[in-house]
Amino acid sequence: MAILVLDGVTRVVEIPDAEPLHILRGVDLVVDAGEHVSIVGRSGSGKSTLLNILGLLDEPTGGSIRFDDVPVQRMSAAERDKRRGREVGFIFQQFNLLPGRTAAENVATPLLYAEPHRFWRRRRLALEMLDRVGLADRADWLPSRLSGGEQQRVAIARALVREPRVILADEPTGALDVETGQAVMGLLDGVARDSRAALVTITHDPHIAALADRRHRLDGGVLHPAEVEAVR
Ligand SMILES: Nc1ncnc2c1ncn2[C@@H]1O[C@H](COP(=O)(O)OP(=O)(O)O)[C@@H](O)[C@H]1O
Ligand SMILES: [Mg+2]
Repeated sequence: MAILVLDGVTRVVEIPDAEPLHILRGVDLVVDAGEHVSIVGRSGSGKSTLLNILGLLDEPTGGSIRFDDVPVQRMSAAERDKRRGREVGFIFQQFNLLPGRTAAENVATPLLYAEPHRFWRRRRLALEMLDRVGLADRADWLPSRLSGGEQQRVAIARALVREPRVILADEPTGALDVETGQAVMGLLDGVARDSRAALVTITHDPHIAALADRRHRLDGGVLHPAEVEAVR
């Protein structure tokens, strides 16, 4: 079942005293529940712009996007915010953890705005998520005491704690060494599959892209199917 459907999505940015910038020129993409899709593309090709549109943070200037069969352009801003908060989890290259909060408090942050039955159980839910990413014994540590890979695992737990149906990862291994990056990405792929969430991963790394069920390359503002590159 399709959760996100993009049809001819364009994104044009008007720039004073210059030609408008056509970042996306007609992107078609269908993301089904529970599948893992990867997008590669060189720097500046519009990957983050596309991910922000998928996550309802930004709107297309043309074409359409449907979330659960509802046209996003017809949602009110409040409705979009509510859907994003409940259904979308983001993971970024920079882990963006709150430095003065423990791992468990960081993971519980999205639950501060959740329904009462989750709000009151937030510490328990955070501990369960930390356990799933192998960090049960780091629950009360501050981020500064954790390695880069551990910090990204905390960020993954935080992105998943509300059980979103879509997880969007923008270069999630970009700040990690190759080996740690592969381990973290394998973990993310596994927890996303276990929770039946759709996962869209943006990456430079063909090894990481190869974990996905379907691969795309963003080039010239259009998505193309990408071949599996030889993986050693
Ligand atoms: N709001 C904006 N105003 C002007 N230029 C932008 C804006 N957003 C993105 N860009 C430009 O559009 C291009 C694509 O950006 P981005 O989506 O961040 O690419 P990527 O993530 O693939 O590196 C870049 O050249 C970037 O500088
Ligand atoms: Mg980017």
